[in-house]
Order: sequence, then structure tokens, then C-alpha cells
Amino acid sequence: MSQSETSIDQHALAEVLEGLRQPQKTISPKYFYDARGSDLFEQITRLDAYYPTRTEMGILRNSGPEIGKVIGPDAIIVEFGSGNSEKIHLLLDVLDRPRAYVPIDISAEHMEAAAAGIDADYPSLTVIPVAGDYTKPMHLPGHSALDGARLTGFFPGSTIGNFPPEEAEAFLVTARDILDGGDLLIGADLQKDPAVLNLAYNDPEGVTAAFNLNMLPHLNQLIGTDFDAGAFEHHAFYNEVLGRIEMHLVSQAAQIVHIGGSAVSFAADETIHTESSHKYTLEGFAALAARAGWRTAQTWCDAKPWFSLHLLTPA
Ligand SMILES: C[S@@+](CC[C@H](N)C(=O)[O-])C[C@H]1O[C@@H](n2cnc3c(N)ncnc32)[C@H](O)[C@@H]1O
Repeated sequence: MSQSETSIDQHALAEVLEGLRQPQKTISPKYFYDARGSDLFEQITRLDAYYPTRTEMGILRNSGPEIGKVIGPDAIIVEFGSGNSEKIHLLLDVLDRPRAYVPIDISAEHMEAAAAGIDADYPSLTVIPVAGDYTKPMHLPGHSALDGARLTGFFPGSTIGNFPPEEAEAFLVTARDILDGGDLLIGADLQKDPAVLNLAYNDPEGVTAAFNLNMLPHLNQLIGTDFDAGAFEHHAFYNEVLGRIEMHLVSQAAQIVHIGGSAVSFAADETIHTESSHKYTLEGFAALAARAGWRTAQTWCDAKPWFSLHLLTPA
């Protein structure tokens, strides 16, 4: 086996190939996130058109003291998909003597840099970064700070909405196992005027387009594909029937892409579905949580209301 073959992530290669063999070609949104993808996502969160981040942070600011009281003292926070760990500051600042912070992220380098920043900002907090895929069952690392302690999960950003409903339910079951009796504070974006939604994922600055297209060079580097990012275009729209934004990459011409030893052909205008972002009603989200064995203890929203934060507790 050559060195380039040994350094290729064979699991990722098999997963991507399987997705591209479906009638609607699909690639998981987790492949957006190399260092550039994480940077582009951060730029998205600061765009005027992209309301979710600032709206959720507004809820955390306005309702923070109440949320802090409900979570209680000596908390151990496990964050799923921590990214730049920006929102955790708002939560840690309202908690009474938080004991430990466990960020879990697939983009290890980016997450470890953010975790080091949290470590420096909160000297009395134990920070235990975990590089991994939170869709897979996992055991948190053995650490004295976690022994016998009650965990609280944190899953902001409406990242839950990236899963189709059955996978969202499966994630909530996995999270319940990982948290082992602890609660989960989770963000969920709400249904609203489709014009607001369409603009949020088609920003005039083109940052979301760059983020979507960045998946292709990332895969070229990760699994040795030969995607030409210039031969695809970003397309995002609100699917009112399914209540979700869909992001696609549209092939600009008939072309063939090589993945491992396989060739995958694209017709002109054929798309790869790269991400969905489901938008919920409050009742719909509570029902989803209930199917996964959670009870909604409390919900906080902004005034519009465009976004929601839910504290779930094992039913
Ligand atoms: C959309 S960002 C959200 C970041 C942050 N939580 C927020 O709300 O702004 C998603 C983050 O989740 C990470 N991520 C995506 N899929 C993942 C997976 N399956 N397992 C672990 N981390 C994942 C990405 O690397 C990225 O940092």
C-alpha cells in the first residue's frame, strides 16, 4: 500500500462514495469542516442576513441568569459540535462555579485551539476536549473531574436541524446515553417567512456559497477525490413541504469525478445535496424530543419568535 493510500481516511471515502451512489447524490455536512470551512462558518455567523447566531446569543444573554439557575451549581457542560466555542462563554458566565467543560468536535485542530482559549479564560474550570463524531456512540474520557458527576449537554446553533427527523431522533437518543441522566440545553431554529430563510442561506456577500463549495477541495485533500470546485455552483432554497432549507452543489456540466478506484458521473444540472436545515414549530420540536425519551422542562425564545432554546430532561 502506498503512503498516500495509508493516509486516506478509508471510512470517509466509503461514506462519501455511498452517498454519491444514491439517486439523489448526498454528502454529509460534517465534511464542510476543515480549518477553512470552520473559518467560513464563523464568517457566516456575523452576516446581516444570517439571523440564527445573533438571535440565539440574544436569548442566551436575556434569559442567561434564569438558565444558569435552572442548570445549577458545579455544572459539567458537554458541548456537541463546539466549533469556536463562542456561545459557551455566555453560558459559563451565568453558571455558579462551573466545574468542567467538555467540547466535542470533529474538526479537532479548530476545536483544540478554542478549548485552549476557554482554559485560559476560566482558570478554575477543567477543560477536557474530545475530538470525535457525536453521531456515533462514545464514552467520554476517564477523568477525575467527571467521576460520578451529573453532566449537562449543550447543543446550540440548531445543528440538530441538519439531521433528517429520524437521525435527529437517533442523535437525541445517543446524547441521552452520553449524558447518562443529565439534561440537555439545545437550540432549534423556528419556521418563519420563507423570504427571511432564503436570504439567510443566500447572503449577498457569497460567504455561504463559498462555505458550501469548500466541501469539494476539503474532500480532495481528505480522501483524494478530484472534484473541480469551479465546475459546481451553490444552490439553497426553502422546501416548504419538508419545512427545511436545502443546500445543494449543482454540476455545471456533464462530468466524471474519481473517488478511490471508482468513477462517479454527473449529468449537467445534477446536484449533490450537502445540507438540510430543518425549521421547527415549538410543538413539533417537543414531540421530536419526546420520541427520543426527553421531556421539555423549559423553553426560551426571542420576541419574534425566530429561534428557541429548550432545556430537555430525561423522561
Ligand atoms: C454549525 S457549527 C456550530 C458551532 C457552534 N456550536 C455554534 O452553534 O455556533 C457545527 C460544528 O459542529 C462540528 N460538527 C459537525 N458535525 C459533527 C459531528 N458529526 N461530530 C462532531 N462535530 C461535528 C463542526 O466541526 C462545527 O464546529
